[in-house]
Amino acid sequence: MPELFGPAYAALYDSLYAAKDYAGESRLIQRVLNEYGSFPAHRVLDLGCGSGRHAVELAKLGYCVTGVDRSAAMLAEAERKGVRLIQSDLKELELEETFDAAIMMFAVLGYQLTNDDVDAALRAAHRHLRPGALLIFDCWYGPAVLAQKPSDRTIVVDTSNGPITRRSTATLDVCRRVCNVTFHIDPDLTETHTVRYFFADEILRFVKSAGFDLLRFGAFPEFDRDPGPDTWNVMAVARS
Ligand SMILES: C[S@@+](CC[C@H](N)C(=O)[O-])C[C@H]1O[C@@H](n2cnc3c(N)ncnc32)[C@H](O)[C@@H]1O
Repeated sequence: MPELFGPAYAALYDSLYAAKDYAGESRLIQRVLNEYGSFPAHRVLDLGCGSGRHAVELAKLGYCVTGVDRSAAMLAEAERKGVRLIQSDLKELELEETFDAAIMMFAVLGYQLTNDDVDAALRAAHRHLRPGALLIFDCWYGPAVLAQKPSDRTIVVDTSNGPITRRSTATLDVCRRVCNVTFHIDPDLTETHTVRYFFADEILRFVKSAGFDLLRFGAFPEFDRDPGPDTWNVMAVARS
């Protein structure tokens, strides 16, 4: 299988998502940590940290963030921002330390396609958390994916080398509960990302079996709203 988040795609990642509100999402994470946490969180583990943009925003809010990702190219982008980093498949992570909180943001859980992989990812988060610490993650919400269906899109973004066009073509695979999204940037740069969507009852079961209590399953980023068929992204808060 071709490498995901390879060097060419990773180099464009921050430009492609320049409009994503990482600062606002990080403030929401801070709010959730304050409202749902049973102790003040300082040390945060960012699983699937990518190019490190939550880590940078969380650091501005006073958190000390360690990022984990399997893509060397994404980590190279994060390294430029001064984030503390570990290259690992998050499912196999074995650090001799625990954290006050963990995050898995921008559908990282959805990249774990099988039930075993989802279990392994959540267990890895759990074994790196202090008892009572929070795990916060967003994912695609099944009822919305089935109601809205993935669609083809084209965006044009600015980069330091001028504007680029990214065309994405998407298909739904209801048997595997995934969307296959192929990004076409130029003839040499094509990546197909297979992303799983989740239903509320599965999330409840997955987090419980990894040792967490599910505290909240809300719309994302409109976290105070309950999810519905209009809510492609949802955010879960679980306590270890
Ligand atoms: C959509 S990006 C999100 C990156 C970042 N969290 C953000 O919000 O911009 C998904 C990231 O998860 C990483 N990832 C997915 N599955 C992983 C795994 N099993 N272990 C480590 N990293 C993983 C990918 O390499 C990629 O950097």
